[in-house]
Amino acid sequence: MNGRRRVVIASNRVPPPPAEGAPWPAGGLVSALLPPLAAVGGLWFGWSGQAGDPDTPPQRTVTPGIDYVTIDLPEQEIADFYEGFCNRTLWPHLHGLAEQATALHREYSTYRTANRRFALALVPLLAADDLIWVHDYQLIPLGQELQRLGWRGPLGYFHHVPVPPREHWEAIPNHEALATAFTAYELVGTQTPRDRDQLRTLLPAGHGEHISAHPVGIDPQRFRQFAASHGADPLAREGDDRQILFGVDRLDYTKGIRQRLEAFERLLLRDARWRHEARFVQWAAPSRGNVPEYQAERAAVIEVAERINARFGEPHPVELDLTSHPPDEVAAGLEAADICVVTSLADGMNLVAKEFAAVHSAEHPGVLVLSDTCGAASQLTGALPVRATDVGSIEEALERALRMPWDERARRAAVLRTTVDLTTAGRWFQEFVLELERRRPGGAPTVFRW
Ligand code: F6P
Repeated sequence: MNGRRRVVIASNRVPPPPAEGAPWPAGGLVSALLPPLAAVGGLWFGWSGQAGDPDTPPQRTVTPGIDYVTIDLPEQEIADFYEGFCNRTLWPHLHGLAEQATALHREYSTYRTANRRFALALVPLLAADDLIWVHDYQLIPLGQELQRLGWRGPLGYFHHVPVPPREHWEAIPNHEALATAFTAYELVGTQTPRDRDQLRTLLPAGHGEHISAHPVGIDPQRFRQFAASHGADPLAREGDDRQILFGVDRLDYTKGIRQRLEAFERLLLRDARWRHEARFVQWAAPSRGNVPEYQAERAAVIEVAERINARFGEPHPVELDLTSHPPDEVAAGLEAADICVVTSLADGMNLVAKEFAAVHSAEHPGVLVLSDTCGAASQLTGALPVRATDVGSIEEALERALRMPWDERARRAAVLRTTVDLTTAGRWFQEFVLELERRRPGGAPTVFRW
């Protein structure tokens, strides 16, 4: 080992290698991991996003920074593991939204089987001195499966999503097995100290010291470059100088998209001034479209937006765009917005909030409205806080944001920007990996070349 271990990332979702020009996968995991992994180099392993014959060898694309290796999953496993256990059972319960959890797809065994498949495909790619870092709830048992297959090297896990209260945790089928699966890791990272403390109460006794809080960040410099490279303002409409409230999310019921639109509707009803002085642009990228709860959410969001536009007529107050936008366009949109509205009902971190902070400053201020149920709220103290389940509190914050004087906007924007500049994805990555190394008996620290 020449002073530096290779970092092997395993996550269910892997971005397409840059040359492929495939659509960009929405979600915080990829945007947090990609810049630091590209900087230090390493292997990124996971699902191709495609159905296919499981016996086909993994697809490998070597780029100057990252070696991407992906496997296809059998169609039935996509339904049972990814859409079923992960996204109809684990996802809603981990977000404390039991009402979205279906009675179907409760089989923990399908989850284990898929994780075993990932482990079997990953093991032949490994070198003895690699460091493995597993990401997110789809792959919690991967560490256990790798150890069963003989892996003895460094093994860490990062939990991108919230850790729920006990009553939600206990609603997860086989939650005891899930808790045991966490204990394979020498280090488990959570987004916030609150999540760390909560997870400590849920795992078997003695495992608490393996859990530590490492809030995920973005690469603010890179994101600012995206905004600069885009050129045109994607939110501009000729002759329209209304203030722009902007939301950009995956289309997911955890994001509180309906709630924020309803809050805007209430504001327009209460004070007619805003019908001429504000508009709401909401981009919601398609996500998990085969899952019925996501289809229902899509229909509900469309219904609210259409209702508002029908109620107030021209110029329409809401512009709803249900397509994916590449990162440079998202960056340019966030930069052009006056107010960014993030109202997740539960969210591990929420990197859109950090991206908005990165492209605003005291000279070009924007106001961030942020629900207190996002991990980011504990760091982004320059934001206007709201309770996502309380539409009235969102309505008040939207009005306060719209009325906010320039000097307060500038002060808050400067605080937000400093925070994201100090807590970057690079720092998050490095701190986690170094802590994992330090925890190994006699483990030599990884030397990063930044
Ligand atoms: O950030 C949370 C997360 O669930 C990631 O694990 C995931 O990659 C992302 O959201 C997008 O979801 P999906 O991979 O299901 O499209």
